[in-house]
Formats: sequence, C-alpha cells, structure tokens
Amino acid sequence: PAKIAVVGGGSTYTPELIDGFARLRDTLPIGELVLIDPAAGRLDLVGGLARRIFAKQGHPGTITTTADLDAGVAGADAVLLQLRVGGQAAREQDETWPLECGCVGQETTGAGGLAKALRTVPVVLDIAERVRRAAPEAWIIDFTNPVGIVTRALLQAGHRAVGLCNVAIGLQRKFAALLNTAPGEVHLDHVGLNHLTWETGVRLGGPEGENVLPALLAEHGDTIAGDLRLPREVLDRLGVVPSYYLRYFYAHDAVVRELRTKPSRAAEVAAMERQLLEMYGDPALDEKPALLAKRGGAFYSEAAVDLAASLLGAGGSPFQVVNTYNNGTLPFLPDDAVIEVQAAVGTKGASPLAVPELDPLYAGLIANVTAYEDLALEAALRGGRDRVFKALLSHPLIGQYEYAEALTDQLIAHNREHLSWA
Ligand code: G6P
Ligand code: MN
Repeated sequence: PAKIAVVGGGSTYTPELIDGFARLRDTLPIGELVLIDPAAGRLDLVGGLARRIFAKQGHPGTITTTADLDAGVAGADAVLLQLRVGGQAAREQDETWPLECGCVGQETTGAGGLAKALRTVPVVLDIAERVRRAAPEAWIIDFTNPVGIVTRALLQAGHRAVGLCNVAIGLQRKFAALLNTAPGEVHLDHVGLNHLTWETGVRLGGPEGENVLPALLAEHGDTIAGDLRLPREVLDRLGVVPSYYLRYFYAHDAVVRELRTKPSRAAEVAAMERQLLEMYGDPALDEKPALLAKRGGAFYSEAAVDLAASLLGAGGSPFQVVNTYNNGTLPFLPDDAVIEVQAAVGTKGASPLAVPELDPLYAGLIANVTAYEDLALEAALRGGRDRVFKALLSHPLIGQYEYAEALTDQLIAHNREHLSWA
C-alpha cells in the first residue's frame, strides 16, 4: 500500500479527496495518508473528518496531520499539491482589480491568473525541492493553479510531476450521464492548455471508438451550452465543446459587466469555507457534506486516484487527461510547452496521444496563450516590473499597452507581501 502526502491538506476540498480514496481503495490501496498544512486549526478540523470518513468506510489506512513538510513527505510515493498562497483573500484581489481596467477578474485567466502564478511558482518550487530530498522517488501531482504554468515550472526544474485538473473528468461524467453509459466508456478528444481546452470529439469505448459528439450536440446541445453558460449557437457553429473557461474569451465583455455587479467568487467561497469548517468540527459528521458540491472541485478525487494509481503501477485507466510536456504533440508549440491532452499514463509518467491537425481557430489562441504562459513563468522565476508588463501585454485578453501598464502597477501593489523582488 502507498504512502500519499497532500500539501495543502487543510483545504476544505480535502474531504472530497478522502471520500475518493476511501471509495476507490481497490484502485489505489493507501497505507498511510499525511495531510500537511501550516494552518493548524483548519488541519485539525479537516483531519478529524478525514479519519471519520476512513473509519466509516472501513479503510485500513492511517491518516496523520502535520505542519512539518519535510517529515510529512518523507518516503512518500506520491505528493499531491493543492495549496493556495495567500488564501481566498489573495484570490479576492485577483478577481477584483483587473475589472477596473475592463479586464476579466479571475483566479487563473488573465491578469489575476498572472498574479496567482507569481505568488505560487516560487513556493511550489521550494516545496518540490524538499520533496526531492525527502522522497526522491515520489511523483508530484499538481492540482495547484495555475496548473499549466506551475507544471511547466516543475518539469523545467526536473521534477517528476504531472499536472491535473477536473474539467475533463467533469465533462466525461456529464456526457456519460447524457449518453446513458458508464464514465469509463467515454473517451474525450480533449485538446489545449489547462483552462483553455476544447472537446473536439467524444468517443465510445476508447481513442479509436465512434465519435458521437455530433449526435450528442444535436440531442443535448441546450443542456451542455447551459452548463457552460454560452449560447448554444456557439457550440453548433464550432461543432466542439469548449471548456467553461472559454467563456472568459468568447464572452469576455459580458463576463466583465456581470462580475462588476456581484460579489466575487472568492467571497462566496470564503463564506462556504466558514460553513464547511464548522460542519467538519461536528464529531457526528462522517462523510463529505453536500455543501462541498457547491465548490468547483467535483470529481477531483476520482481523477487524482486514477492518476496516482497509474503512476504508481497499481492500475488505473490507461488514458487520462493530464498536463505534461508537449513534445511535438501540437507541432505549432515548443516541445517544452505544457499542454492538457489525453495521455498514456504509467510508471514512467505521461505521454500524450497523437492529436490530429488542429483548426487555426483553436491553434491560434493556444499558441498565443502558450507565449503568455512562457512570459508569465519568466516573470514568476526572475521577477521584475518589466517581465510582468510583457506577460500582461502578451495576453490575448489584455493586449493594449495602457491596460498592461495599469495592470502591472495594480498587480505589484496588491501582491507586494508575496513577491520577494517587489
Ligand atoms: C475547477 C477548476 C479548478 C479550480 C476550481 C475552483 O475545479 O478546475 O482549477 O480550482 O474550479 O473552484 P472554487 O469552488 O474554488 O471556485
Ligand atoms: Mn482546474
């Protein structure tokens, strides 16, 4: 049985993960689970509930909690990263100041996403170095946003890392329900970058299976478009299913208008987190509460179990949507760009399946955002106002000199305590 460590284990998401570990223990047998978090109060509450979930489901593994990263990850087989530097308070900023320039305020897309990358990359790289010393064989599974940029930072520094997001598994589950079939039967032709993806095919049985996307759109287009909050016409005309993050591009100005009139997602989440933590403190609670479904992390646990099982050689689906090096898969991108596609996953890591030639409609945006991610990583690693400015100027949702200037000042002003160079 494996030793798994979760960095950011005090997250209110953790019970989702524990629930998956408990239910799917045949896929991924766990002997020892360590929840690591500097926030002792939270970690106590989450750890208590985690133990009750394991106990209720008769899981034989032990769960320990600690603030000591080095001790916690020692000898781990896999380390999950799910931390948030600066917490929801920093996220609230990311979602707010870009709106002043008429740009989307979001935790991973646009200027807010850059701020998050700048805060996060140095912290994650430090953690990864410590993992390398204490658990040289461990796989790092990164769920920490922005996943594309963070995964690229990890891979460039030579870590055994794979980036993970729940968008694809969410769509797979959704489509399976609409098609009245088991999720494992649904194979997505999923292509792009993290939070910038399109489903260009939906196949039954595997990568060679019949493409039922046209029929799925014809029959359930309204439901699917409704979930994405995009007009159905967009899906019909493109013949693909964009991820809901494409709404920030395809309906950018409408989203900005909407965001200006309502409380931020960070504020909503912070309120939910207070409620959740209160619930977790109830010794009678021994399962993940329904309220957790209002967070965005649905099926994160299933994706994480599947990925860890494959990386550790315990089984798991042969093909999974992950973030990893491009290595020629999308010929218009550098080999060391990180893309989000279907990959064959095993004990040697993830290797992308071939992707057919992509319509310029998607390739163009992917190439542009890849260039932004490259500049964003430069700024995160080396700091400096000029690098921040260039990353912002390169972003397709910013682009204008005047906005990039103003956003640079805002980003630095709001993140000084998290940026060593500022
Ligand atoms: C989805 C995304 C994650 C993101 C989450 C936000 O799950 O794939 O990358 O962290 O939504 O959910 P929240 O409940 O924090 O808004
Ligand atoms: Mn994600």
